[in-house]
Amino acid sequence: MKKTASLALATLIASIIGCASTTGPAPMRGADVSAPDRAPEVKVYAAKVPGVGQPQLIARTFIGQPPMVPHTIDQYVPLTIEENACLECHITDELRGQKVPKLGESHLSKTIKKKDGSPAVEMSRFQCDSCHVPQVDAKPLVDSKFVGVTK
Ligand code: HEC
Ligand code: HEC
Repeated sequence: MKKTASLALATLIASIIGCASTTGPAPMRGADVSAPDRAPEVKVYAAKVPGVGQPQLIARTFIGQPPMVPHTIDQYVPLTIEENACLECHITDELRGQKVPKLGESHLSKTIKKKDGSPAVEMSRFQCDSCHVPQVDAKPLVDSKFVGVTK
């Protein structure tokens, strides 16, 4: 009787140890905890030049969201007080025959006008890339049930 009980206990312990060694948690970053971090894969922005390659705008996912930039901005940043390339294109809705999404009324000063009478951009909206950032078409790392509300 005693012998059977200790045999059963030994079997139980062996199965627990066996279990622990085969089914460890699988790390999401794809490497062992002690292994050095791997550099993330370099992602390429969809459109190198605005209006070329991917003229599709990225859908907004919540009310009040600054729209994402569907083209690369590398060649336009950093923005300086002397030169704001974003403004040169986005102050209008058409440039050299090409359609450009024009910045909203909210971006224009209600009181200040330029010398020629045209609307001036509100200084709080001058640093475009603090709100508008480019986005790549990357697969989400984990499943998400997030549903945007835009109305
Ligand atoms: C040479 C002109 C040009 C320049 C410079 C430019 N853009 Fe654009 N931008 C476009 C065009 C054209 C589109 C429409 C999508 C496309 O064709 O790529 C666009 C799309 C966008 C959109 C999407 C708007 C929406 O309603 O979804 C944002 C935001 C934007 N640009 C921000 C910027 C920012 C910020 C900069 C500066 C860092 C910048 N753009 C520089 C031409 C330009
Ligand atoms: C403080 C944050 C902020 C800054 C800075 C900013 N924007 Fe925006 N932008 C927004 C938000 C929020 C919206 C969407 C609602 C709106 O039009 O106000 C928007 C909308 C836009 C749109 C789409 C307009 C439309 O009618 O759909 C364009 C194009 C744009 N911005 C370009 C620019 C450019 C170019 C600059 C720099 C001169 C700039 N933005 C600076 C927050 C910002």
